[in-house]
Amino acid sequence: MKHRITLIPGDGIGPEIAASVVRIIEASGVAVEWETHYAGAQALEKFGETLPQALLDSVTRNKVALKGPVTTPIGKGFTSVNVGLRKALDLYANLRPIRALPNVPCRYPELDLVIVRENTESLYAGLEHVVVPGVVESLKIITEKASTRIARFAFEYSQREGRKKITCGHKANIMKLSDGLFLDCFRKVAAEYPDIEADDKIIDNACMQLVMRPEQFDVMLLENLYGDIVSDLCAGLIGGLGLVPGANIGEKGAMFEAVHGSAPDIAGQGIANPTALLQSGILMLRHIGEREAADRTESAMLQVFIDGKVRTKDIGGTANTAEFANEIIAQMK
Ligand code: NAI
Repeated sequence: MKHRITLIPGDGIGPEIAASVVRIIEASGVAVEWETHYAGAQALEKFGETLPQALLDSVTRNKVALKGPVTTPIGKGFTSVNVGLRKALDLYANLRPIRALPNVPCRYPELDLVIVRENTESLYAGLEHVVVPGVVESLKIITEKASTRIARFAFEYSQREGRKKITCGHKANIMKLSDGLFLDCFRKVAAEYPDIEADDKIIDNACMQLVMRPEQFDVMLLENLYGDIVSDLCAGLIGGLGLVPGANIGEKGAMFEAVHGSAPDIAGQGIANPTALLQSGILMLRHIGEREAADRTESAMLQVFIDGKVRTKDIGGTANTAEFANEIIAQMK
């Protein structure tokens, strides 16, 4: 069966890593017809808008997308394409497995935890306005509906994947209403899953604990902004942003993308690590039912890490993006 998948190469290092990941996925034997669409800065240049309707139509039709990072200018310009895509397609759950890889120099080589991030609300929705000149207001919206839905997603995921414990991170001691509601919904849903341990931690303490003793965490449930920040922190625990994948999941579809951004500091050099997007692609293959291709790709990738000879610069190697991809493809032959 041929899968039709929307491919959004993105900005900066996006097209470089996307090209390598597409080659690896195709080498796994799975049949894919890619529908390539531009978003962000490239789309603005070509079509005068950052999130073209044709792209949204493509993802809605195909229900699956693989996406590279998109640049969002700070302060001015266009609003985030990522926020727009997640909202438009109601991709309410963001799943980020944080798993150390063999031979990658890092602080916690045994670490294996998963972040479940609410993807549609909170301060990250970027609802802000100028009240009077010199005063801005940023709205943190938290709803019972979205908080319950993401808590249920976290418990269902944990049950399916054999995870034992979920820790909800919050600041309900200060934001008693908003974070309080998020925590209440977590506790209510937790009562329906007595076989999974439910724990909660104030987010600042959770960050400290993550750095000191991350092995105490199994699954972390976080609202949107905390999830964004803690994901990067966790990437740092296992060797950096070049490694951590992500899945944005909703009722209508799913979009797979790395945690990292467009890395303008190394864009155009062909040296970015494609592992994070590749691991997102492996999650995608499992999502579309291509388990064998996913396993084959993952084994080849792990073998390249175990051999440790071909690795990209960010994790101490000298290989470029294409050479690393070639090595994985060679493993599959
Ligand atoms: P970034 O994640 O792009 O880069 C942070 C650091 O990590 C840089 O030093 C970069 O070189 C390195 N890095 C990231 N990915 C790497 C990879 N695959 N291989 C090797 N090194 C890698 O974060 P930054 O610089 O804060 O953001 C740049 C742009 O990306 C911004 O416009 C931001 O809004 C956007 N962004 C987009 C995301 C998305 O599309 N999902 C997510 C995060 C940021």
